[in-house]
Amino acid sequence: MKIKSLAVVALMGFAGLLLSGCGDDTPESTGPPPPAPAEYADKHMPAGWWADEKIIAEGKEIFEGVKNIDVNCASCHGKDGKPVKAGARDFRKGERMKLYSDSVWLWRISEGVPNTKMKAWKSKLSEDDRWKVMAYERTFGLPGMGYDVAKKDWVPVAEIGKAAPAAGAPGEAKPAAGDGKAPAATPAKEEPKKGGK
Ligand code: HEC
Repeated sequence: MKIKSLAVVALMGFAGLLLSGCGDDTPESTGPPPPAPAEYADKHMPAGWWADEKIIAEGKEIFEGVKNIDVNCASCHGKDGKPVKAGARDFRKGERMKLYSDSVWLWRISEGVPNTKMKAWKSKLSEDDRWKVMAYERTFGLPGMGYDVAKKDWVPVAEIGKAAPAAGAPGEAKPAAGDGKAPAATPAKEEPKKGGK
């Protein structure tokens, strides 16, 4: 009896180990990225760079290995953003790339992604160069967009830093008023017809 239950406990523990072992690397590739560590959490794209064509052009040269042949992001991520190496992040998928704040994006470029081919680039790229290459990478899936730190969201570059409309402005309260189906619209339309001509 004792031996039997011990064996069961051991088996269960083993199965648990196997399960957690399998689960470990899956979220890294498919789920949202983890939050940036403290060292990067307060770093943000320098002001004006999201919209700066010169910065973006410099980022393109870094990305394609023109500036430094040892740094060729395109050799895995593809010149047009279509990955050429299996498993490389597809920057054209804006819906997913939106989950990366500028800080998380910088962190990943700087430190790489453990247990993947994505290595740390901070020894080869200055922090400015890492921002530049990011400004270019985001053009594949989030063209014309930049990360707004206050709103914690990607917005069109012209709106970066502008006050969020949701901050209690009276004219913007519409979505909260109903369920979005505007049930009052039908009677309101019929009344003028009857009472009119
Ligand atoms: C040797 C191939 C390779 C090269 C070169 C490469 N990457 Fe990657 N990169 C990958 C792979 C693979 C992943 C996916 C990692 C994962 O599973 O999260 C990735 C992911 C990323 C991500 C998303 C990180 C995440 O959390 O998913 C960013 C941002 C990125 N790369 C930027 C760059 C930049 C910038 C360069 C050039 C300085 C570069 N990469 C060069 C292979 C590469």
